[in-house]
Amino acid sequence: MSNKKYNRTEQSQEDEKNTLWGGRFTEATDTFVQRFTSSISFDYRLYQHDINGSIAHAMMLNKAGILTDKEKTEILTGLETIYHDIKDGNFKWSIELEDVHMNIEAALTSRIGDLGKKLHTGRSRNDQIATDFKLFIKDQIDLVVRLITELQRSIVNLAEQEAGTIMPGFTHLQAAQPISFGHHLMAWYEMLDRDYSRLIDCKKRANFSPLGSAALAGTTYNIDREYSAELLGFEAPTRNSLDSVSDRDFAIELASAVSLIMMHLSRFSEELILWSSSQFSFIEIPDRFCTGSSIMPQKKNPDVPELVRGKSGRVFGHLTSLLTLMKSQPLAYNKDNQEDKEPVFDLLDTVKDCLLAYSNMIPAIICNREEMEAAAIKGHTTATDLADYLVIKGIPFRDAHEIVGKAVGYAIEGKKDLSSLDLNELKRFSALISEDVFDIITVKGSVNARNHTGGTAISQVLLATKAARKNLDTRENK
Ligand code: ARG
Repeated sequence: MSNKKYNRTEQSQEDEKNTLWGGRFTEATDTFVQRFTSSISFDYRLYQHDINGSIAHAMMLNKAGILTDKEKTEILTGLETIYHDIKDGNFKWSIELEDVHMNIEAALTSRIGDLGKKLHTGRSRNDQIATDFKLFIKDQIDLVVRLITELQRSIVNLAEQEAGTIMPGFTHLQAAQPISFGHHLMAWYEMLDRDYSRLIDCKKRANFSPLGSAALAGTTYNIDREYSAELLGFEAPTRNSLDSVSDRDFAIELASAVSLIMMHLSRFSEELILWSSSQFSFIEIPDRFCTGSSIMPQKKNPDVPELVRGKSGRVFGHLTSLLTLMKSQPLAYNKDNQEDKEPVFDLLDTVKDCLLAYSNMIPAIICNREEMEAAAIKGHTTATDLADYLVIKGIPFRDAHEIVGKAVGYAIEGKKDLSSLDLNELKRFSALISEDVFDIITVKGSVNARNHTGGTAISQVLLATKAARKNLDTRENK
């Protein structure tokens, strides 16, 4: 949604005018306070939801017999023309009118006359802002979950393509056991799947309408809150007017769900940065997602993942801001709450950009399959497999562990890897070892031996990608 931003030149012209008029200390302070308390420079972004809220409110007032049919129609027509003017960039926001609500209401009155003043019957800006913000957040959640789904799709495609690519799996960032690269990628998919469900859950709790709670205690008019809630697509009205105008849990829940997404993206970023370094050389990130160095000609820096990793910090900061903003606030509405918008706007802009960047970058990743497999072979990563093999042949696990430890020592001494020892060499450590050991001691054998739900066997990875695709399809057809 594009919209002309609050025009700072206009604002400074106003300041100048006031200085010219008065030049007195109190005038100057008033101008400052006006600017200090106004929120129009950012809450203009809620204009569409504010107008939708007003439309529902006017329809409800008509149904309740407070507005005549003619009055309702005139108000709705006025609001629609305002909506189009704002959308087309033909609306002048005014700082004197403080916020989005009063700017729109004043425009309505100037367009349709005194009738415009009737719109505010039975409501307050306190229930209005809570309603607008919830409507905005619900719409934004729809956008974010769509972006998560797209990224999950990119991951599933790459995972399926790379199911047979072997890489080292790490613990403590030390090569631990060989795994399928597709399996590693599907771990990212799982994180995003939880992110998706957290947002859906957050939206469910945000889906109750504060409209009609008025300033804090409700209103003396015979309003129908169920009707306005229904018109706005809420499940029902909220149950307590005091809570309705002061509750910002939905914003904090959103910020925490988005923080978890950013935390996940920062983990993906860290891995991509490591994997694309010359020390790992597992992958290449195409040039269009990187930049060079102005001094070191050889450099190609993974800027996109680095920035995503960095941006996680500002989102966590917004979560902390919101929690701190609400901490210790007495009921009901306090002006503090005006501070809830900017963190939420920024964290949403940030997460949407980061998800989009990742959806574009993941399909473009180039995998150095040989390098990955070579790294998986290094470090005796199939030692556990050899121990398991001996256990199956009847040796107690502790003894098997000891035997394999000795075989690893022998391999290290000969500057070889455990998986490259031949049968005669292996037989020195246990007579029970026979030709079939190579089904498990090779990296591919090791990977495919983990053939159970959630395991890294190539066949399991392909089952997981298939199930994931089905999950995404049903989600999108809902
Ligand atoms: N701009 C205000 C906000 O964002 C709207 C509500 C103002 N209400 C009031 N009583 N001052 O919270």
